[in-house]
Amino acid sequence: MTVPGPASSYRSVPVSFVRRSRRLSDTQQRLWDEQRLRYLVDVPRAAATTSVDPGFVLDLAQVPPGSGPVVLEIGSGQGDAVVAAASARPGTRFLAVEVYEPGLAHTARRAAAAGVDNLRLLQANAPEVLASALPEAGVDELWIFFPDPWRKARHTKRRLVDEPFLALAARVLADGGVLRFASDWEPYAEQVRGLLESASDFAAHGTTTPDGWAPRFEGRVLTGFERKGTAAGRVVRDLAFARTPRA
Ligand SMILES: C[S@@+](CC[C@H](N)C(=O)[O-])C[C@H]1O[C@@H](n2cnc3c(N)ncnc32)[C@H](O)[C@@H]1O
Repeated sequence: MTVPGPASSYRSVPVSFVRRSRRLSDTQQRLWDEQRLRYLVDVPRAAATTSVDPGFVLDLAQVPPGSGPVVLEIGSGQGDAVVAAASARPGTRFLAVEVYEPGLAHTARRAAAAGVDNLRLLQANAPEVLASALPEAGVDELWIFFPDPWRKARHTKRRLVDEPFLALAARVLADGGVLRFASDWEPYAEQVRGLLESASDFAAHGTTTPDGWAPRFEGRVLTGFERKGTAAGRVVRDLAFARTPRA
């Protein structure tokens, strides 16, 4: 993952995503221009387009609107999980962090079509959001579903979830708040499970299967990434760990 540093050194460390070209048709761009006003949080930048000014802190009392618990999804892709959840749970407030603009545009289109207003989107590099853009203990649930697996040995350092990332996740999660993770890349799932099991900030949440994984999270809708993994014969692993209470 990217360990956030001073703005000047920010892009000197590997990030967990690749720059992809924006492919919005004229119609998609027009819709996004309308819907971003409603859904996209205006994030002040530091060095790069998906960076976050370290002085910026989102006011969770106002954004997303309402007063319910806050669920944060990191790497929300096309918005399958977060729009379905926001639609099903109007009393809960959802934040989705994603770097890929067409994915955010698609998410906003779906949210608007579903009449969802308890969701806001941030186009930003997630570790920076966790490091400073959210207040400590402000998040009740944190979801990371099918993060880019970075399968090759020389790329594993680009994985989003590592020890420093989990320390940032522990910072934003409220006591008892739950981190949910799912991956169809077993070595990544094993790595994250090992880190969570040895982290003093986290403890296993809920029941586990006999081999120690969490049961499939029922709030996780089936996405293209999961379908692709299953079709390729890979097993999807879920993890659920709760933030241990602060001293
Ligand atoms: C493999 S996709 C999975 C998308 C979605 N969670 C799903 O299950 O369909 C991973 C997503 O994470 C996003 N991503 C990767 N690194 C990120 C980062 N550092 N900050 C925000 N989003 C990131 C990518 O742009 C991509 O959309």
